Amino acid sequence: MNKEWKTIINSIKSWIIEAGKEQVAKLEKTVSFSEKSAAIDLVTEVDIWTEKYLIDKIQSTYPTHSILSEETGSHEGSEGYQWVIDPIDGTTNYAHGFPFFCISVGVKYNGETIIGVVYAPKLNDLYLAVKGQGAYVNDRSLAVSNRNELHQALVGTGFPYDRATNPENNLDHFVNIVTKIRGVRRTGSAALDLCQVAAGRFDGFWEFGLHEWDFAAGRLMIEEAGGRTRAVPKERGYYVLAGNHAIFHKLDDLIHDTYK
Ligand code: IPD
Repeated sequence: MNKEWKTIINSIKSWIIEAGKEQVAKLEKTVSFSEKSAAIDLVTEVDIWTEKYLIDKIQSTYPTHSILSEETGSHEGSEGYQWVIDPIDGTTNYAHGFPFFCISVGVKYNGETIIGVVYAPKLNDLYLAVKGQGAYVNDRSLAVSNRNELHQALVGTGFPYDRATNPENNLDHFVNIVTKIRGVRRTGSAALDLCQVAAGRFDGFWEFGLHEWDFAAGRLMIEEAGGRTRAVPKERGYYVLAGNHAIFHKLDDLIHDTYK
């Protein structure tokens, strides 16, 4: 593997394992939070702490790299590398003590995602994908499932924070798809949902209005595990569809009107 990529992967792993320990420790105490775009869109003190911890590490180790992160946006660097960070994906889960949350870090080079790392500290799962070199969870190789019928498929989805006021809140698609499929799960962490597709546990995933930090790492995970993804930028964020090839196409047939 490219020596520079290897160094970056080692940095990410050591930093997110450290940050994850802190997230789990802070979970035992009372975590304070505030509201962002809506009363249901939260940011905790631990999102802010984790983001600052990671940005300080990146800026002191790789001062020329750019960063895009959920809570503080864009930090411009002078080189082709860009880090895309979600300090806690699944913030609502975290604030309620539900263990399905993670740190998601994608690294892009000249616009292409080359490394994706997703770490779920409470579940002890570290997912890694490297462009052209596969996807892994805790060093075990990942492959998407081969289930190809909707009635055999388990898929993930999510609903946007502006769901009470925005008609494109995914409820119509949910109602349609849930009647045709074995199961739909709404876990509350898009990054981890995408990892479940890469691991062959979920057969597909769709959600509208996501941000790059929610899916940069998970998308590479699926592609490196042999699956298919699409992220269409729209005014309210990205419309994301993913799955093994068969379920990707079958979900696409059911939701493609929304992408137009
Ligand atoms: C959210 C989670 C959730 C998805 C939301 C995301 P956050 O990220 O990924 O599953 O439905 O659209 O914003 O706010 O927990 O970082």
